[in-house]
Amino acid sequence: MPARLAPSAAAVEHSRIRELAHIAMGMDGVLKLYFGESSTPTPEYIRRAAQKAMADGYLFYTENAGLPSLRRALADSYARLHGVTLDPEREIVVTASGVQALNLGIRCTLDPGDEALILTPAWPNGASSVALANGVVHMVPHVLAGARYEIDFGALEAAVTPRTRLLIYTSPSNPLGWVATPADQDRLLDFARRHELWLLADEVYERLVYRDPLGTPAPSILKKATRDDAVIVVQSFSKTYCMTGWRVGWLVARADLADKAAQLHEFIISHAPSFAQRAAETALVWGEIELKKMLARYKENRDYCLAMLKKARGVRVPEPEGAFYLFPRIEGLTDSFAFCRRLLEETCVGLAPGVAFGAGGEGSIRICYAAERDILKPAMERLVAFLAAG
Ligand SMILES: Cc1ncc(COP(=O)(O)O)c(C=O)c1O
Repeated sequence: MPARLAPSAAAVEHSRIRELAHIAMGMDGVLKLYFGESSTPTPEYIRRAAQKAMADGYLFYTENAGLPSLRRALADSYARLHGVTLDPEREIVVTASGVQALNLGIRCTLDPGDEALILTPAWPNGASSVALANGVVHMVPHVLAGARYEIDFGALEAAVTPRTRLLIYTSPSNPLGWVATPADQDRLLDFARRHELWLLADEVYERLVYRDPLGTPAPSILKKATRDDAVIVVQSFSKTYCMTGWRVGWLVARADLADKAAQLHEFIISHAPSFAQRAAETALVWGEIELKKMLARYKENRDYCLAMLKKARGVRVPEPEGAFYLFPRIEGLTDSFAFCRRLLEETCVGLAPGVAFGAGGEGSIRICYAAERDILKPAMERLVAFLAAG
């Protein structure tokens, strides 16, 4: 038989966000709101820290689990923000991005054929990472109750089978902006404990929450869980510090999983880049002032976009509490990819199609409002005009 791609790899679907972005990248003058990133570059103090790290010799291999000083800084940050005590040597692994932390968490918990429950609509990489691990995905959509999304615990119970090993949820959510309450977290933990599942909480938007005082983080599952619970937290420097291109994240997990993840790291990527880890440490220690300024700007952007969408006919959009997305539902929309493609080709505005986010996503579009206002304003004006034109 001629050499062919492994069917299990061939079966992994394309990201529909990338598919749209791919079309946009071949065009000039696109107002890009399809990816989850700001148009603002990484702050100067972090760039300077990377230059200093290079000058100081952070150019060699580091520990698989990441620089000990960065892991200590992460443990200090959890103590400060959440009153949670972590062992930086046994429970924290620095990864080369949030997506890689997600991959490691999934790889450590699923065998081929095992099943994972994913609360959706959700960023597609969770489901694709499960597919990469030859696992089986069951999506359980959030339900909209009045002005707030809720977890459908009945549907979760019904979706558990003897092969279910893992439950993945994202809070604050991409794309919904929903934030799990402490009561939601209690129920999720109880559910995972009763069914003996791993609970993976993607908390990469933890610091992007629009509650007073600005800078208050979203509640972390680590505050509720004991260190013996089968809990994994996926995290990243990308969103909080405008460091998407740097590829540094981390995971926090029960010590046995963290130990295995660090070991597997050796064979996947060994570790995150040395000087980027050092710069990330600077961001963690010195980043609060810049973060608060950024949050104030995002909050204004969110409110501006919500006000613009109110002008559009047939649009329903709950006010998001966190992350930097709006996920408006458009009345009568049945093909969000075709909608986003037409919007792109006719108006040069690039949004992400709701269908990319799994069950419950079709019929909506995702707007990332982290862009500077000189991009966001014309994009929203064109979107509203496009909606009005039908
Ligand atoms: C929910 C969620 N998790 C994880 C990530 C990964 O971020 P990164 O790989 O840049 O650290 C993203 C990025 O968009 C995301 O939206």
